[in-house]
Amino acid sequence: MSGRFLIVSDVDGTLLGDKAALEAFRQWWEPRRSAVLLAYNSGRFARSLKQSIECEGLPRPDALIGGVGTDIFDADASHCWCDWPPPSTSWDIGRVRQVLADDDRLALQESEFQSLHKTSYYACGAGPADLDQWRQSLADAGLAVDLVYSSSRDLDVLPAGVNKGSAAAYLAQRWEIAPERVIVCGDTDNDLSMFQRGFRGAVVANALPELKALDGPHVYHCQRAHAAGVLEGVAHWMSRS
Ligand code: GLC
Repeated sequence: MSGRFLIVSDVDGTLLGDKAALEAFRQWWEPRRSAVLLAYNSGRFARSLKQSIECEGLPRPDALIGGVGTDIFDADASHCWCDWPPPSTSWDIGRVRQVLADDDRLALQESEFQSLHKTSYYACGAGPADLDQWRQSLADAGLAVDLVYSSSRDLDVLPAGVNKGSAAAYLAQRWEIAPERVIVCGDTDNDLSMFQRGFRGAVVANALPELKALDGPHVYHCQRAHAAGVLEGVAHWMSRS
């Protein structure tokens, strides 16, 4: 196992949101980049993350996880890690769309937010009963999927077992970094799976209630928001390792 750390951070609302704090994070991280690996983990796709790296001051990381854990790219968004999701993953996006078609609680997100392994809907204000019903209909159709509902709006349908948490675990395993040296940071429900993998978690102060409700010895609730919270969380966990 490597002695390095790995930071896996959500982007929108977590690293992005406070330019001065992001710059402070960048200045802290750049001189440490060989000892502390950095990966972004976003609902957005790698090409969109690449634009934020070019235009919004995000430091160039070691890898990009995009599409809520469904794809992994190198830092330039030019080469995907083609062994993710695992080739054995069962997934029939056409059937998923058929099962959820004609449900007036759902509107398919724009085509730029769809990919081979992720289909996403707007489902404003959906509640647990709606989610249970969609889960049941998909299971009845024999489809093994994960539903991720976040920000009281976005419903992502993903292959079972493929999410931000499993993609982060895959990176950590490939880079031989033990879970206690992986620090995950987030602000909404689509980050939840990263906090369920035995990693060290940092919930930024501006997180939504869904993530603020997390509890446990491996969850640190930051006093500070956005990138300042990420720095605070990273310092917290690094000082304890
Ligand atoms: C990003 C994606 C969107 C997804 C949302 C929540 O905004 O573009 O497709 O539904 O994250 O994961």
